[in-house]
Amino acid sequence: TSVAQVRIYEVGPRDGLQNEAKFVPTEIKMELIKKLVSAGIKDVESASFVSPKWVKQMSDGAEVMKKIPRAPGVNYPVLVPNLKGYGIAKQCNIEEVAIFPAGSEGFSQKNLNCSVQEGLRRFKDVAEQAVRDGLRVRGYVSCVLGCPYDGPIHPKAIAKITEELFAMGCYEVSLGDTIGVGTAGSVRKLLNEILTVAKPEQLALHFHDTYGQGLSNLLAGLEYGIKTVDSSISGLGGCPYARGASGNLATEDLVYFLYGLGVNTDIDLVKLVEAGRYISNFLGKPTDSRVNRALSDK
Ligand code: HMG
Ligand code: MG
Repeated sequence: TSVAQVRIYEVGPRDGLQNEAKFVPTEIKMELIKKLVSAGIKDVESASFVSPKWVKQMSDGAEVMKKIPRAPGVNYPVLVPNLKGYGIAKQCNIEEVAIFPAGSEGFSQKNLNCSVQEGLRRFKDVAEQAVRDGLRVRGYVSCVLGCPYDGPIHPKAIAKITEELFAMGCYEVSLGDTIGVGTAGSVRKLLNEILTVAKPEQLALHFHDTYGQGLSNLLAGLEYGIKTVDSSISGLGGCPYARGASGNLATEDLVYFLYGLGVNTDIDLVKLVEAGRYISNFLGKPTDSRVNRALSDK
């Protein structure tokens, strides 16, 4: 790959913990975030300001964001679905919000309780207000390689939403394979289309590892010059509105993989493994990161 440095955007405290059956106490969430930062992660998606009626696990977002000490040079973005959530988040010393329209009608209805168009309209309100307030806005498109309700999604539909997100002021769009059905082949087809509306430096890849394709999908994406990758500590996560979706590509696996390619990440893998072990122990389940398992067995 021609990429020399990769920016790892950690989503474990949000995408990971939103999907756990057990509510993770605020103190544990904050400790996890601190451990990730001390391993060298510079972007940690730390909370959601979604409806607590929909995702109870993230209902302490305001507390997390008010209390968590900010390390210099570290970005602590939060997920925001609407102006109501934005208003609450804005009181919590935030610098970056992430908006997340769906790439498919079926998933939009389940995840946001509205159509794709209506979702885009609401996210536009959020993005424009955030830009006026001087915050950074990141966009996600979900179900870019397939939808649990609608099946395969045409790359042109994803490209159109991506374009709209940039028009709203997003500095970056993360392409989410929410249910992890993608393959290196479908990633190529998608990126051939997306790169007609965006530059590789403006994109991030967000793979869920449901079918074990995370790393090969990533390699396909890196070959297009994409330099930002979303991952989740210990491979935690999934989306409560995408049944069967398992965790994201594990951060430990990602770092090990990039190390093998000679790509610089500035991450301390030993500390990362420790962070993964910390949260797995708390959740009382084995890690979903193969690298974490291998290094813990030693
Ligand atoms: P709704 O029920 O249609 O909205 O939900 P509503 O406006 O009728 O609100 C219902 C109640 O929630 C009201 O309370 C609102 O005030 C309250 P009541 O009047 O009944 O007491 N409410 C809120 N409270 C706090 N903060 C808010 C908020 N909004 C409404 N922001 C809504 C619509 C969009 C709110 C809901 O569907 C929702 O919260 N959805 C988010 C679901 C979610 O978090 N999914 C997981 C994240 S997406 C993901 O994981 C994919 C990603 O990782 C990328 C990938 O993998 O591809 C990003
Ligand atoms: Mg996700």
